[in-house]
Amino acid sequence: MNILVTGGAGFIGSNHIRHLLATTGDRIVNLDLLTYAGNLENLAGLEDHPRYRFVRGDIRDGELVGRVLAEERIDAVVHFAAESHVDRSLEAPGVFLDTNTRGTQVLLDLASRHRLARFVMVSTDEVYGSLAPESPGFSESSPLAPNSPYAASKAAADLVCRAYHRTFGLDVCITRCSNNYGPFQFPEKLIPLMIANALEDRPLPVYGDGLNVRDWLHVEDHCRAIDLVMRKGRSGEVYNIGGGNEWSNLALVKLLLAELGKPESLIEFVPDRPGHDRRYAIVADKIRGELGWRPLRPFAEGIRSTVAWYLANRSWWEKIRSGAYRDYYARFYGPGGRYERG
Ligand code: NAD
Ligand code: DAU
Repeated sequence: MNILVTGGAGFIGSNHIRHLLATTGDRIVNLDLLTYAGNLENLAGLEDHPRYRFVRGDIRDGELVGRVLAEERIDAVVHFAAESHVDRSLEAPGVFLDTNTRGTQVLLDLASRHRLARFVMVSTDEVYGSLAPESPGFSESSPLAPNSPYAASKAAADLVCRAYHRTFGLDVCITRCSNNYGPFQFPEKLIPLMIANALEDRPLPVYGDGLNVRDWLHVEDHCRAIDLVMRKGRSGEVYNIGGGNEWSNLALVKLLLAELGKPESLIEFVPDRPGHDRRYAIVADKIRGELGWRPLRPFAEGIRSTVAWYLANRSWWEKIRSGAYRDYYARFYGPGGRYERG
């Protein structure tokens, strides 16, 4: 098969490309705009791989997308490309709607026109909104109630995918996964940010009371699930993906500090994220039952190897943190910023 991966220079997309090249004989074309989050170093060593090609470009550029689909004889799309950071969506919602929602619609249009065999939409559990502490986790039939501009832009894209399936007969599958962790995650997200700050003996900014809960899954388990859905998922269906592995942010940050041998005194409570979802938890019974998926990376092992990866690949994140990232960090966490300590 010839597979178009969008956003393949980001965290999950780059892990997915490595997974596909290692476990299948498929040919992969990676379409990525290389925004601040896209990094070709995430794909180092694959440049000359005979079954891999990189195209720099924008999913919103219909002319380019059409050309890639035709010239590369693409059979299926796995769509990761997005603006993915909730905090940035508080500052600049417009680009989230434009990339995540309109960009997805452009891709769907071309996928329909070129009669692709499958379109996998990598959506997110954030489309469901926030769970109360004792509520059962989100199932595929939970109502969509997104709370951040990021989540709303993904929910809209997720529903446009449904519409293209119902109205135009496009073969679409949608995945909604919980929080991922692992190598190559951009150090604006909780786990790599906390590891990097701790290694530099900087404060670890925990939003609010630190008791918001996330359901963490190793990125490799997510990639295996997406690939199963692409090959065996039922057309038009939604599949939740999650590890059944809930951690409060505070407990997780303390675990990271213990792994790194750093003191808890580095923790600094800062103002809460506006609209901060209290808890996410996923019921993944459908993908487990129908497709036989289950997570293979136990959290204790996965987090230890992730910490080891950030220790061994210090130059990867130090380079990122020395560039435009500094302005971002100052805007959000510095004096007068949203998350300046109160
Ligand atoms: P990321 O921010 O690390 O990567 C996003 C990639 O998309 C980057 O390489 C960027 O250059 C590219 N991109 C952005 N705009 C583009 C455009 N207009 N055209 C082409 N490429 C563009 O994100 P991630 O954490 O790897 O997430 C990937 C996808 O998975 C997203 O759709 C996200 O919503 C979804 N998701 C993420 C998680 C998570 O925990 N990170 C969980 C569930 C779902
Ligand atoms: O649930 C899936 C989603 O997970 C994906 O769709 C998103 O793309 C991805 O970014 C992630 O969203 P979150 O908002 O859950 O992830 P983030 O790493 O930004 O934050 C995780 C939790 O940690 C959240 O409760 C906010 C908190 N946090 C985050 C940062 C960056 C802090 O307390 N301090 C911080 O500095």
